[in-house]
Amino acid sequence: ASHLSREDLKALIRTVPDFPKPGIQFRDITTLIGHHQGMAASVHHLAELAGAAGAEKIAGMEARGFIFGAAVAVQLGIGFVPVRKPGKLPIDTIGIDYALEYGTDRLEMDPGAIMPGQRVVMVDDLIATGGTALASAELLRQAGAVLENALFVIDLPDLGGAARLREAGIEVNTLMEFE
Ligand code: PRP
Ligand code: ADE
Repeated sequence: ASHLSREDLKALIRTVPDFPKPGIQFRDITTLIGHHQGMAASVHHLAELAGAAGAEKIAGMEARGFIFGAAVAVQLGIGFVPVRKPGKLPIDTIGIDYALEYGTDRLEMDPGAIMPGQRVVMVDDLIATGGTALASAELLRQAGAVLENALFVIDLPDLGGAARLREAGIEVNTLMEFE
């Protein structure tokens, strides 16, 4: 099957200035995921990268990481681990606090979601400062994951997140960049 190119996918992202705060150029995936071929091609490209990285499980960060991560896991025939915002899981969790481009937050997960030594690939829609991804990587490693790869639809390279992940020994692949 032929898939939309990465350039075509980039054209499906909607940019909204000054959301959620003045000065932020919000890169909105709503228009990408609402386009069937756009969504299918995004998942196809991410699944190829995750497969090449030897993924045994996909982890996705709430909320936008669930959209792409779950679809990639199904495409590869492997399980999905949700990394959640606080207070959502009905069990004893492990958790970590982290800084965001526009605020602070906390992530939690089921400590039993991963078998020790399982190779986990993280998937999210976007990397900005890398705070979310670095916190998720630490949490997943605490849960026993071998975490060496992270995939994002969108990279904002000026915010330095991908570079921070690479410095932490995590290989990063993305489908497109915005200044
Ligand atoms: C966004 C985005 C990433 C994160 C990237 O999620 O989906 O998870 O921010 O920023 P960072 O690299 O600076 O950490 P957000 O926390 O806005 O939550 P949402 O997915 O629920 O919209
Ligand atoms: N998450 C963090 N920064 C963002 C941005 N500029 N656009 C969309 N999501 C984001």
